[in-house]
Amino acid sequence: MKKLRAVVPATTANLGAGFDTFGLALSLYNEFEVEEYDGVVIETVPENPFLKDPENNLFVQVLKFACERRGKTFHGAKVKQITNVPVARGLGSSATAIVAAILISATVSKTELTDDLFFEIAYRFEPHPDNLIPAWKGGFVTALIDNGKTYYQKIDFPDDIKAVVVIPDFELSTEKARSVLPDKIPLKDGVFNLQRASLFIAAIQSKRYELLKVAMEDRFHQPYRKKLIPGFDDVVSNAIKAGALGASLSGAGSTILALADHNFEKIGEVMVEGFLKHGIRADYKILDIEKEGAKVQVLE
Ligand code: HSE
Repeated sequence: MKKLRAVVPATTANLGAGFDTFGLALSLYNEFEVEEYDGVVIETVPENPFLKDPENNLFVQVLKFACERRGKTFHGAKVKQITNVPVARGLGSSATAIVAAILISATVSKTELTDDLFFEIAYRFEPHPDNLIPAWKGGFVTALIDNGKTYYQKIDFPDDIKAVVVIPDFELSTEKARSVLPDKIPLKDGVFNLQRASLFIAAIQSKRYELLKVAMEDRFHQPYRKKLIPGFDDVVSNAIKAGALGASLSGAGSTILALADHNFEKIGEVMVEGFLKHGIRADYKILDIEKEGAKVQVLE
């Protein structure tokens, strides 16, 4: 096998009202280099003892599964994993590992990667198309799973909008962030979100950015999850006051995302201050929307 490298973008899911539906790829990337080897050796940048254990390494687990799914024995791999996407912060770090392993496996086997095969493998590890698809295809995606089949569509996203992501210094697992959600929601909350998610798409397509603030409001998940995120309301309102178009929890959190077309630095700074007011340290990044998605390069 040749030496291959997969470069996969971070993603933000939900964008407020589009819970378990919308996903957007961002210009922050994890890299996975791999070559054939007897046994598994993992180098991590930055150094991460947890990820160096093959049992904990999602990329290796998916690579092994994808190899065996093709009827081959997995003998091992030498892996270099360069992690830029923070873990357990609602920026799709696990999706990067899953997408990288599936794409590398398909490249090595020279088999066509159909949607059905991609989702069959991916969902064994994470059932979230709103992260997986934009990590794979890039851009802004709306997605759903019906009777085991995934339906999705990429939607053009304007070039002049950037994402200001504010990453607090605490992790929040998707499992924990989902455990606080109710089983049922009132009809009026269903209507509230349906109206806003629809408006979000219309605002993006027509570039009527003044609609995004209301379009990113949500009653499905943020009212419950914000109890796990000290400062959520202050961070969001600081972003809006500083000129953000709209703001929401990024995926299951703990990152908070603002969409903006100007004032990016100022928005990031005041969002960090919103967290600090509640004793939480945070960093911000100003990211572009990543349009192309994951790439696999043959290195040698
Ligand atoms: N839509 C999912 C959630 C994203 O909010 O729980 C998980 O990656």
